[in-house]
Amino acid sequence: MATAGDAAGSVHATRRAASGDVAGLVEVLGRAFDDDPVAGFLFRGDRRRHRGLRRFFRIQLTSLYAGDGEVWTTGDLAGAAIWAPPSKALPGLRDLWHLAPLLPDLAGLGRSVPDAARLLAEVERRRPRAPHWYLATLGTDPDRQGKGVGSALLVDVLSRCDAEGVPAYLESSKERNLAFYARHRFEVTGELQVPHGGPRLWFMWREPRPPGD
Ligand SMILES: CC(C)(COP(=O)(O)OP(=O)(O)OC[C@H]1O[C@@H](n2cnc3c(N)ncnc32)[C@H](O)[C@@H]1OP(=O)(O)O)[C@@H](O)C(=O)NCCC(=O)NCCS
Repeated sequence: MATAGDAAGSVHATRRAASGDVAGLVEVLGRAFDDDPVAGFLFRGDRRRHRGLRRFFRIQLTSLYAGDGEVWTTGDLAGAAIWAPPSKALPGLRDLWHLAPLLPDLAGLGRSVPDAARLLAEVERRRPRAPHWYLATLGTDPDRQGKGVGSALLVDVLSRCDAEGVPAYLESSKERNLAFYARHRFEVTGELQVPHGGPRLWFMWREPRPPGD
């Protein structure tokens, strides 16, 4: 557990999320990602996006990262960080199967399903094969953003990365987040412009802080 100060000087204590937090965190992450470019691309229209995002985060929290993942939140569920440890295998067929309930939320089977499949495949193709902690999701409730919650949610796992000499990796779909992640020592290693009017993605890698740095 870690604490980090915000602009007003208060602290955000973090803890591992429990199964009783799932419903609350699904809503928090659904709100946090409501204007996300990937969500807007895959789930066309407000109703589809609202439903699709919540279904997606429920799948992440209860299936994809429930067993070998780590979910960090704050005592008041102001946000969540969902991590996959280096020991978790890269996504495979089983993960795709978990995502199947999202099919009705993808707009127009002719267009969005192939778009989603291509996007997923390309993102996974670029995922480094070297062992790393993978930040699958980081989100702060919109009315709590800019107050240090997101930074606090990164501290526990990034400290462990530094202590154990393990890199970390993430994809970002917002340019605004690059400076935020750079402050946490992530560096952009690649970019992808998704075709068919899709979003731009940035791939970011973080080497562990050398001892004594
Ligand atoms: C990115 C995000 C997790 C940061 O969490 P946070 O609690 O706002 O983070 P902190 O308060 O620790 O740091 C704030 C920094 O985050 C960045 N930031 C990105 N989006 C922001 C937003 N909507 N509001 C405030 N800061 C934001 C800024 O660089 C800001 O630094 P600044 O104050 O110098 O501008 C959060 O803004 C969020 O949930 N955004 C929407 C979902 C998202 O994009 N998640 C990341 C997916 S890769």
